[in-house]
Amino acid sequence: MSALEAPRVALIGAGAMGGALVKGWAEAVRRGGGLTLSVVEPNFDKTLEAALDAVGAVLNPPNQGPADIVVFAVKPQAFAAAAEEARGFVGPDTLVLSVMAGVTLTHMARVLGVERVVRAMPNTPGQIGRGVTAYVAASACTGGDRALVEQLLSPLGAVEPIGVERLMDVVTAVSGSGPAYVYLLAEALAAAAEQEGLDRETAARLATQTVAGAGALMLETGAPPKELRKHVTSPGGTTEAALDVLQAADGLAPVLRRAVAAAVKRSRDLGRGEGG
Ligand SMILES: NC(=O)c1ccc[n+]([C@@H]2O[C@H](COP(=O)([O-])OP(=O)(O)OC[C@H]3O[C@@H](n4cnc5c(N)ncnc54)[C@H](OP(=O)(O)O)[C@@H]3O)[C@@H](O)[C@H]2O)c1
Repeated sequence: MSALEAPRVALIGAGAMGGALVKGWAEAVRRGGGLTLSVVEPNFDKTLEAALDAVGAVLNPPNQGPADIVVFAVKPQAFAAAAEEARGFVGPDTLVLSVMAGVTLTHMARVLGVERVVRAMPNTPGQIGRGVTAYVAASACTGGDRALVEQLLSPLGAVEPIGVERLMDVVTAVSGSGPAYVYLLAEALAAAAEQEGLDRETAARLATQTVAGAGALMLETGAPPKELRKHVTSPGGTTEAALDVLQAADGLAPVLRRAVAAAVKRSRDLGRGEGG
């Protein structure tokens, strides 16, 4: 993350996601620039407070007025209460950024009485800076707004702009829920190893490290997964024998296609208030 140009930020909710953001912002301030941060959070982590203090960021200044940007990182069901608590930080020129799942741009704009709103969907690896966050900005947002949002989200990992809000349901189904699919792969691989005779602990370690290491290699080399897969696969070898099963007509691809379609549908239903 590059140096922060001293924006006035108000953060509403600093749990897992909000806390990860603050940690990254403190690190950015250490590299230069500045930050004036107001935090509304019942249990703000003391180590984050110390990290901000150490780099000279201004935390919870007195006489706080409207912020340049208000960031909502509370659970979606807490948004109505959080919006009330954020009132004093929201002025006519305030940009709003939300990482709340499922809360639409229109809803946020209406509740807060602003036009420049951005909706982002991070994922859990963001808590260690290795996630991917997709965002969509309301049409009233400027290029400067998008640049600030990308900068503020970068502590969570990669940032991807999405042009159409409707596609946030797909983002939710792919990168938002996606870590769970990968963990399931690790679980299933460990279970298969155990069935073939390895003890449970060894099976779990082999599966976990294989999934983590394969992901890390993909990121660090930047090579497409298909190419990395071909590197492991010799003609007539063991990997090919397994891939023949995984790539069969009833193999992994159609299962994932159905899984993602189910998640997209669920996200759409929840967005319409049909799913509870
Ligand atoms: N964690 C992820 O990987 C992830 C991924 C995708 C999207 N998200 C989205 O990110 C948002 C935050 O998730 P999270 O995992 O960071 O949740 P979290 O750890 O529960 O953090 C939310 C924090 O906000 C606080 N809070 C609740 N109501 C508040 C209010 N009215 N004003 C100020 N603070 C309030 C909570 O305090 P209490 O605990 O005392 O209630 C909590 O500390 C959610 O909307 C979620 O959909 C998270």
